[in-house]
Amino acid sequence: MKIEGKEYRTIWYENSIVKIIDQTKLPHQFKIKELNTLKDAINAIKSMEVRGAPLIGATAAYGIVLAIQENSNFEFIKNSADQLIQSRPTAINLKWAVDRMIAKLSEINKGHLLEVAIKEALEICDEDERFCKSIGINGLKVIEDIYKIKKDTINILTHCNAGWLATINWGTATSPIYHAHKKGIPVHVWVDETRPRNQGANLTSYELNEEGIRNTIIADNTGGILMQRGEVDMCIVGTDRTLSNGDVCNKIGTYLKALAAHDNNVPFYVALPSSTIDWNTKNSKDIPIEERSSEELSHIEGFDENNEIKKILIYPKKSNAMNLAFDVTPAKYVSGLITEKGLCEATPEGLKNLFK
Ligand code: MRU
Repeated sequence: MKIEGKEYRTIWYENSIVKIIDQTKLPHQFKIKELNTLKDAINAIKSMEVRGAPLIGATAAYGIVLAIQENSNFEFIKNSADQLIQSRPTAINLKWAVDRMIAKLSEINKGHLLEVAIKEALEICDEDERFCKSIGINGLKVIEDIYKIKKDTINILTHCNAGWLATINWGTATSPIYHAHKKGIPVHVWVDETRPRNQGANLTSYELNEEGIRNTIIADNTGGILMQRGEVDMCIVGTDRTLSNGDVCNKIGTYLKALAAHDNNVPFYVALPSSTIDWNTKNSKDIPIEERSSEELSHIEGFDENNEIKKILIYPKKSNAMNLAFDVTPAKYVSGLITEKGLCEATPEGLKNLFK
């Protein structure tokens, strides 16, 4: 997708260096950052220079490449894999990508490890791009069906950033929107700000602007009244982990939006590539929910009058704060799952029929 008219992917490998768009600087600065070591890759994931389930997975895959460049001993590589998996706990794509890399490398001679790892990491990225494009084509049908009846601008609400910046390209939740826009269907997106890291405001709105798609940032609590007023035709969100029973774990606040959608008969779709499905965890209570620093809540970052990033305290100094990063939306509130293989119900049968 485009930034200032130029096509980018979110991660690429060039001359033994992994390059990423540093998302902690967006939307005010567009900076490409170089990752040279395993430690750089782990830090990029932890500090959210890269974020979004598919992109975290791809970064971890390239983290294995960087580890091999440091030391091609298989014990070192396996230890690096464990460190990468532990860097963020909730998005299953991280473990999925690392496991895929290790499975591929375990049959390879030491002399060929690097070459095979580079190829596999690229394939993980290429596959994600293909899958996200297919999600767009499959999700477009849902938007078209609503458009056939409404014959006017389709208002879509989304939460967090499940856009191209969270994947390799296209995004998951945004891919159907990009496809609808390209087809000439008028779309307008209600973008949840997504406190505390503001992925909606800083990333989703930014990337929609770059593609020329009308959007409006709203405070996270606004979606309910917009749905009551009939100003939301559908919701589409992404997911960090989807269980085989259709429960969906995504950015904190997604659950409340699903409840409001249910109460107002607004269709609530979740878009995902199959790399986000956790076939093993049976109960959503067993999903590790990341708790991040309370400083992400109590402090806010922005650009000051000198164009410098400044961090300021916005809470009472003595107050405690708690920062859970994800929540689970039970399958019963999900109208459908939009995947690279098509649309299915958020049920064990729905997922099984598509993927097994
Ligand atoms: O904490 P983040 O920014 O990594 O959380 C991202 C999300 O919750 C996205 O909605 C999810 O990863 C889906 S990305 C296609």
